[in-house]
Amino acid sequence: MPAMWNRAMLAAACAVLVGACNTSDANDMAIPAQDGELVAAGEAIYQATCSSCHGSDLRGTDQGPSHLSAVYRPNHHSDAAFLLAIKVGVAEHHWRFGAMDPVPGLTDDDIAAVTAFVRDRQRTEGFEPYPP
Ligand code: HEC
Repeated sequence: MPAMWNRAMLAAACAVLVGACNTSDANDMAIPAQDGELVAAGEAIYQATCSSCHGSDLRGTDQGPSHLSAVYRPNHHSDAAFLLAIKVGVAEHHWRFGAMDPVPGLTDDDIAAVTAFVRDRQRTEGFEPYPP
């Protein structure tokens, strides 16, 4: 019975996809403690170059989203996503704030520090639901 087989396959595929994309449950990759000096350096960079859009408390502004949204969990937006966002920018895709332009003038070490700062706050403050 091909029709039933197809339904079963579809159900199995959906279960896998929902599992992979479920951003709301806490049962995923734990965020490790970050290096304190790196976090402090990253906080200064964040406040100078990211907070105008992402908020000084990381919870977003009318110019950009909260980095404490569950969509920015490390299993959904890895540290490489931070590097790419800063170096090449991001098209509007998760929100309705418009695109993020590349942020010039940050070294790879700066980017590692700013990412450590965000991961530290995610770890200590937890996540907001996505979609909000
Ligand atoms: C001019 C406003 C603005 C500034 C400044 C800004 N961002 Fe963004 N950023 C955005 C917007 C808007 C989005 C959401 C794009 C979407 O998904 O719709 C975003 C998304 C992101 C993402 C998600 C990337 C992805 O793959 O979806 C990361 C990571 C990020 N920003 C990090 C940073 C960091 C770190 C800084 C500071 C170095 C920064 N942003 C500065 C506006 C900004």
